[in-house]
Amino acid sequence: MPFAHITGWGMHVPEPVLTNDDIAKLVDTSDEWIRDRTGISERRIARDTEFPSTLAVEASLKALQVANLAPAELDLIICSTSTPEYIFPATACLIQDQIGAVKAGAFDLSAACSGFIYATNMAAQAIRSGSIKNALVIGTETLSRFVNWKDRNTCILFGDGAGAFVLQASEKPGGVLSAVMHSDGSGAYSLTLPGGGSRHPATETTVHEGKHFIQMDGKEVFRFATRVMGRASMEALELADMTPNDVQWFVPHQANYRIIETAAKYLKVPMDKFVVNVDRYGNTSTASIPIATVEAVEKGKIKNDDKVVFVGFGAGLTWGAMVVEWTGPSLAKKVIRPTQVRLTARLRSWVRRAIRFIEGILSRREL
Ligand code: ACO
Repeated sequence: MPFAHITGWGMHVPEPVLTNDDIAKLVDTSDEWIRDRTGISERRIARDTEFPSTLAVEASLKALQVANLAPAELDLIICSTSTPEYIFPATACLIQDQIGAVKAGAFDLSAACSGFIYATNMAAQAIRSGSIKNALVIGTETLSRFVNWKDRNTCILFGDGAGAFVLQASEKPGGVLSAVMHSDGSGAYSLTLPGGGSRHPATETTVHEGKHFIQMDGKEVFRFATRVMGRASMEALELADMTPNDVQWFVPHQANYRIIETAAKYLKVPMDKFVVNVDRYGNTSTASIPIATVEAVEKGKIKNDDKVVFVGFGAGLTWGAMVVEWTGPSLAKKVIRPTQVRLTARLRSWVRRAIRFIEGILSRREL
């Protein structure tokens, strides 16, 4: 049975920074309160011209470059997002087109902030089963578009960004070692975006009632998160026949510094084994784990052969954890040039649209 190795990684965040002081101009809050209760100092906000797919394309091209893998060699793209560009088509298909992944299947996965762990596990299992060889897993969000900037309970928390991993099959042991995924829909309404789906399709009333904004019972989510983070990590470690002492790095979902501290206490692991960047990006939901991982790798913290635990929680409610042995970049000789990939993909997409247009005219003539 092949093993599923993480051979490429990339992240991308929008440039514009929104500080706590900026938010204090919008709602009754302060930099001190936000830092004290959440650990967040600033977050990135997507420009009007940036979307989950465009952030994801940047992150994905970097990941493919590290893996030395051409988009045409991808078999599968899973895009984890809670802020898809449309209900359909899937954001994954927009990414597939923008990078020219000509033979890849593509779909979105909705498991909120736990989504990147779910998606990586799904891709790893597809590789382990032998049905595919190369997968691209993305976590991408523009949560700022769904935040009520008048609600101080939520608007302080979230930020935008994207992260991506390339997973590849190899006979060499390592890569994804274990994973657990959990859910509890009885807590569905403690964190929800109620408007715009089929229960509350968009109308003037739903807009007036603010149903298209994130609604959250912060205290309840906090209690849930502190309960599950440590436990899920232990479950995944036991499945991999390991203990917290065998692990070099924990990469938790970056929602709140205090939640991460509670997990560290539960696991009896010092905080310096936890990768934390919630101070600079806030909660980027499903993108937070890959963004934190990429930064840790680029800073030389996570090294080849390190054992790493990813652990997350989010709306659903969902939670999960994964143990991986970090593989390092692929040694393949191919060189991937992002500018060239982007141009070729755009040209291909344009040609396909033109063919579809001509086919439309010809078929009308035939009728
Ligand atoms: N600035 C100043 N005061 C505030 C603010 C603010 N931004 N927000 C709330 N307060 C006030 C409250 O009104 C309350 O005042 P009161 O006592 O007079 O009623 C007081 O501060 C304390 O409020 P709490 O809600 O008890 O504050 P808490 O310490 O719980 O922190 C927070 C709130 C940061 C939201 C915390 O509960 C939390 O982090 N929860 C988890 C949220 C989370 O992780 N969500 C994302 C999940 S992942 C996903 O799927 C997207």
